[in-house]
Amino acid sequence: MTDFKALAQTYGTPLYVYDFDAMSAQFESLKEAFRGRKSILAYAVKANSNLSVVKHFAQLGAGADCVSIGEVRRALMAGVPKYRILFSGVGKRDDEIREAIEADILYINVESEAELSRVEAIAAELGTTARISIRVNPNIDPKTHPYISTGLHDNKFGVEIDAAKRMYIQAKNAPSLDPVGIHFHIGSQLTELEPIYEAAVIVADLLRSLQAIDIELKFFDIGGGLGVRYNDETTIAPYDYAQAVLSALRGLDVTVVCEPGRFLTANAGYFLTKVLYEKRNGEKRFVVVDGAMNDLIRPSLYKAYHRIEALGKTGEENAADVVGPVCESGDFLAKNYPLPPMEHNDLLLVHSAGAYGFGMGSNYNTRGRSAEVAIEGGKERLIRRRETFDDVIACERDYL
Ligand code: LLP
Repeated sequence: MTDFKALAQTYGTPLYVYDFDAMSAQFESLKEAFRGRKSILAYAVKANSNLSVVKHFAQLGAGADCVSIGEVRRALMAGVPKYRILFSGVGKRDDEIREAIEADILYINVESEAELSRVEAIAAELGTTARISIRVNPNIDPKTHPYISTGLHDNKFGVEIDAAKRMYIQAKNAPSLDPVGIHFHIGSQLTELEPIYEAAVIVADLLRSLQAIDIELKFFDIGGGLGVRYNDETTIAPYDYAQAVLSALRGLDVTVVCEPGRFLTANAGYFLTKVLYEKRNGEKRFVVVDGAMNDLIRPSLYKAYHRIEALGKTGEENAADVVGPVCESGDFLAKNYPLPPMEHNDLLLVHSAGAYGFGMGSNYNTRGRSAEVAIEGGKERLIRRRETFDDVIACERDYL
């Protein structure tokens, strides 16, 4: 049992705490599900990009799915081998494409015809060949939150099947391009298997039709998206997930690439925050804490539910809004959440905060970002120090 009170005393609050052993267990369960099949689990760095977290997965044998050159640099720094690094994203700049090609990563996931031409031109300029994969938009409704749904033609991601075919033919004929993979990602926090299976079937059919015209692809990249339990969701078991994908791939000799983010880190992370005050406005009860939307924006942005535990507190629970100090009515960690009476310096533990928590943080209201602590084998260690005021103004102070 992690002693969160002691951690709060040592490192202060608000604080992110990650259970590295729980991350390993998630990784191993997914790896096991794809056992017997050539596969790469490329950790989606955006979910939690702390260097120590990325290094932890690298040591377990993970690759990295990156969506900016900054993430590619993080992955390389953290020890992910270049041949397990992917670079995805709908808007890559020329300098990012150039650096990714020079870094000789596994492949670049291309998301438009215009981008393919840029990659082709840049690789030609460099006198080399760029390995690419094309992100196909299979037009499948993933049945998740609209902000994290990506596989419909309404979404900005990927290209239609017909465009993908044209792009593969262009790539095959271009000396500076080497088409090696095919990619799709229909959304995040997926809790239903059917859309994943349907998308895999559509993309596998495309792969077969490309084979028929002598375009042989090695990597079948299924994206990420495996959902986790925040509250009472029914989630997909890794085994069922793998079986659904593999059944769509029958007869094909390809390496499955999977880009899990949330599944690996969400429930291994906690956000620890301290109660500043209790207050009432008429009938409404507020618990004001020192953590805010700049630390954990998911409740404000997606109305996301995170379980909250009042550490060491008992007593009759009554509904309260848990709010931070940021000057926005949208600054809350929970609405109408049942909590016992709270006092100054009590601790609230926000669960499932290991994915898209710290990474989506900001310095809004000139708040330094939280420290991050890892727990591994019962031992704790700091993996990011708390930002100071000087850190926050570092890029401005010289221009005064
Ligand atoms: N691959 C691609 C191409 C992606 O766009 C994403 C996530 C992933 C992999 C990883 O998905 P995961 O396994 O983590 O579901 N900020 C939102 C989630 C945004 C997800 C964006 N793309 C949230 O807090 O729920």
